[in-house]
Amino acid sequence: DDLRRADALLAQMTPAEKIGQLNQPFYFKLPIAGFKADPVSYEDHIRRGEIGSLLFLTDAAEINRLQKIALNESRLHIPILFGFDVIHGFDTEFPVPIGAASSWDPEMVQRAQAMAAEEAWHAGLRWSFAPMVDIARDPRWGRISEGAGEDPFLGAAMARAQVLGFQGSSERPFLATLKHFAGYGAATGGRDYDASYISEEQLQNVYLPPFRAGVEAGAGSVMSAYMDLNDVPASGNVHLLREILREQMGFHGFVVSDAFAVGSLVTQGFAKDPADAAQRGAIAGVNMDMGSATYLNQMKALLDKGQLPTSQLDDLARPILATKYHLGLFDHPFSDATGQTHSEMLAKHRPAARLAAERSAVLLRNEGHLLPLAKSTKRIAVIGPMGDRAEDMNGPWSLTAKGTDTVSVVAGLKTKFVGANVRFAPGVQLIKEFPSSFDGMFGPKPETPWSAEEAEKQWKAALDLARNSDVVVMTLGELAAMDFEYSSRSSLQLPGRQQELLQAVQALGKPVVLLLFSTRPLDLAWASSHVPAIMDCFFGGTETGNAVADLLAGDAVPGGKLTVSWPRNVGQVPVFYAHTASHKPYDSPEFTSRYWDLPTSPLYPFGFGLSYSTFSISNLRLSAKSSPVDGTTTATVTVTNTGKVAADEVVQLYLHQRYGSGSRPVRELKGFRRVTLAPGQSQEVSLTVGPKERTYFSAAKGSWVTEPSDFDVWVGDSSEATLHESFSVLP
Ligand code: IFM
Repeated sequence: DDLRRADALLAQMTPAEKIGQLNQPFYFKLPIAGFKADPVSYEDHIRRGEIGSLLFLTDAAEINRLQKIALNESRLHIPILFGFDVIHGFDTEFPVPIGAASSWDPEMVQRAQAMAAEEAWHAGLRWSFAPMVDIARDPRWGRISEGAGEDPFLGAAMARAQVLGFQGSSERPFLATLKHFAGYGAATGGRDYDASYISEEQLQNVYLPPFRAGVEAGAGSVMSAYMDLNDVPASGNVHLLREILREQMGFHGFVVSDAFAVGSLVTQGFAKDPADAAQRGAIAGVNMDMGSATYLNQMKALLDKGQLPTSQLDDLARPILATKYHLGLFDHPFSDATGQTHSEMLAKHRPAARLAAERSAVLLRNEGHLLPLAKSTKRIAVIGPMGDRAEDMNGPWSLTAKGTDTVSVVAGLKTKFVGANVRFAPGVQLIKEFPSSFDGMFGPKPETPWSAEEAEKQWKAALDLARNSDVVVMTLGELAAMDFEYSSRSSLQLPGRQQELLQAVQALGKPVVLLLFSTRPLDLAWASSHVPAIMDCFFGGTETGNAVADLLAGDAVPGGKLTVSWPRNVGQVPVFYAHTASHKPYDSPEFTSRYWDLPTSPLYPFGFGLSYSTFSISNLRLSAKSSPVDGTTTATVTVTNTGKVAADEVVQLYLHQRYGSGSRPVRELKGFRRVTLAPGQSQEVSLTVGPKERTYFSAAKGSWVTEPSDFDVWVGDSSEATLHESFSVLP
């Protein structure tokens, strides 16, 4: 029906109006040196039907004003589709995506994105450029923050959950975007925007499963990536956008380019000039041009010269118009936000945000049960630059949430430990390593660097405070702006003088809890053997401080698990658990894949995370020792909470195919479940693997295969699970 209505509308449209639907300008004027702000006003463009969508406008009154112009003053009264990066919240921030994924709780993630969509919908937005479902195995890449980590199976579960969350309301229709299609997370050297080189086998088996899951869940749009994939820009890549996305995956929605990516087809040495870029973007099937206005400025001439058939233009515009009908935009085009909406949404969603931040945290170390802290603790020193930085706790891509709504760690601890003296000293300053013209726009304004005297004074104050405390809570990490687009780092060290501060405080002999606020795993080589308690808190969003306080006090118990293998240092990157077995002619330490100076194992494995309780996972049983190719195998274990507090465990199943037409990874996650158990309570957990979990894209065969072979199964609490069984799949 939507397509029929889109076709009826297309029949009335001029070529210019159709091209207008493909055009998505940024609303703001970019503060980039040399960037020429469009001299024509948005209003004029809208009246002429030259804007199909606008991005980066979030003010409800302005959305309504421009929408009115589109509806009342343009010839065909087609509403504008307002889109924005609603990545992990809008009024209320939830944990950054890699944090949320660390909950291993897709239902929670789905609920969080449903709330984010609800908040954005009230502002008049109908479209989020999320979820980002790029697999990332290189923490030097700042955008590791926005995905679900290194694993395709977990990534697929989180992609599905987010699409269902964003698009699940019939009352408030909303559109999700799977991005960045595809392979953006494999940027060479972890340098954002740099080329990715990915074999077809790796692309299909590792990088595409989250996209496939998102398409199956009904995602209405896909964003084509910036970078070259195997020497063809993703936004002009026919193989990616036509053969894989539309033909193989059966995607029927529309593709929006990443910002300026159509124009960049020239910059990247692919298209001859802007006209060629427009033509090649269209041929690849990019429906909407974000930001570059290349379609707007070039397509009419292409049509006139016969270089772009009208039918192709119709094909590009049709799914955009159909989506506008699907979203009910023609009937409900306006924002219904009132002056109260922001505070109402916050009040409604704060409890869920707090819970989400609690469920996301990953406890990496807890020697001598230092955590949870006794509620009677008298003197708590919070030391480190992240302790009072409320706005940073919202994390990257929290462009509409207000720092003033966000609970800092110090504030959260003060509220929770009412009888204690909670005092704060930053000790050192954290300045973004790479100043940019966007500073202050996508995060707090950078601080003015301290003078040498001030730095000395602050350092001394922090150490004095630590000396006069019963416990030190170190709040270290990265600024949110360091975990953003174009925020690659060649080092995984704690930036600035934080490591030095940590060591100086630790040397005082006080009990130290290290809370880490960042999204990329940082170099914890020293901390992991010297600091008794370490918890990765990511950026927890609006309720970070309250969630952290709950966790430190034991009112919440950490149950998150790592979604990336934590490298020992940057030289180990990329390190991921699902590698294939290497050549090993002898049982000797030399003839094998290894470094001389570093173990091959990560510091903390994928799937790892501690609890305040302990669990046993035992008695692994398989439903059968053999299965036909199209059969299923169910693995059942008994999980018991052997500790003293109610807590969560994430039961994980890993599979290995011993031989086949291609080498298969030594282990691959193929099932998981987060369960909550009371002390002493046991539960049977069953996880099933079938043909879907055993199917892979074989480079040798050039197709998907489900093969007879022998399989290993491990079930446990991380990718290093030892509980093992095996079964055979018979021809
Ligand atoms: O959605 C983003 C994308 O992820 C990176 N470039 C800019 C887009 C719009 O903000």
